[in-house]
Amino acid sequence: MLDRFKRNITYLRISVTDRCNLRCHYCMPAEGVEWIPHGSVLSYEEMKEVVKVAVGLGVNKIRLTGGEPLVRKGIRNLVKMIAEVDGVKDLSMTTNGIFLEKYARELAEAGLNRVNISLDTLDPQKYSRLTRGGDLNKVIKGIDAARKAGLTPIKINCVKTDLTTPGDIQSLQAFCKASGFHLRFIRQMSLTDGSFYPVEGGEGGRCNICNRIRLTAKGDVIPCLFSNYGYNVREYGIEEAILMAVGKKPATGHNNKVNTFYNIGG
Ligand code: 5AD
Ligand code: SF4
Repeated sequence: MLDRFKRNITYLRISVTDRCNLRCHYCMPAEGVEWIPHGSVLSYEEMKEVVKVAVGLGVNKIRLTGGEPLVRKGIRNLVKMIAEVDGVKDLSMTTNGIFLEKYARELAEAGLNRVNISLDTLDPQKYSRLTRGGDLNKVIKGIDAARKAGLTPIKINCVKTDLTTPGDIQSLQAFCKASGFHLRFIRQMSLTDGSFYPVEGGEGGRCNICNRIRLTAKGDVIPCLFSNYGYNVREYGIEEAILMAVGKKPATGHNNKVNTFYNIGG
């Protein structure tokens, strides 16, 4: 599927829930947010249908994001349902890793290929502060479980903010080097201001090679992280919603005043 700028759209990112067990300072306000009501959230059946249609249109790579995908009940079932779709060549997940110790093995068995784990510091106190209560030890155990389950190559995503110190960067580099994880740095972005940057060590944020579209938990197909367009699959039908979103994919991102990181999943 080519867009207006002849970019081949092969990558669909699915936000399976807007909910999260953490409250990272750059992603969610301390006082919390209003969640998408359960009735508006797509069922796993609906998500699988979207994947089938997307694959029919040329998508071959799927990433599950959130919120935090592992807080949605029975997520392994969705992984299995998507892994079974013919033509899905790469199925990955972006997670904060807290629940990976518990789920890594069953996710791998269900057909998940690999995980990206969000980790901004290796200092336990600082981790707890940045995430408003997260337990670093659980993440470390989760990463280890992912490695043992073969959810590799493991990528570690570090969001660089004003609070990131050279010490944070050095210790993450040493940790990743020692264990063979890929470390990527993402500069803190603002959707509303439209400030975005290429991911260091990744492909995100490079508009000229962008091959992605996104599906939110309530079923909006979104052409770009920094776009206000979105077409709901329940309203337009799946194929039409995807084609309309692809048709609106901008040459380069502008801003997004409709969505937030926790309902698009970065
Ligand atoms: N800027 C950049 N990345 C963000 N994420 C969340 N909020 C922001 C932000 N303001 C990303 C984090 C996380 C993923 C789910 O979303 O990298 O790993
Ligand atoms: Fe692609 Fe939009 Fe991101 Fe640019 S800002 S890389 S067009 S998703």
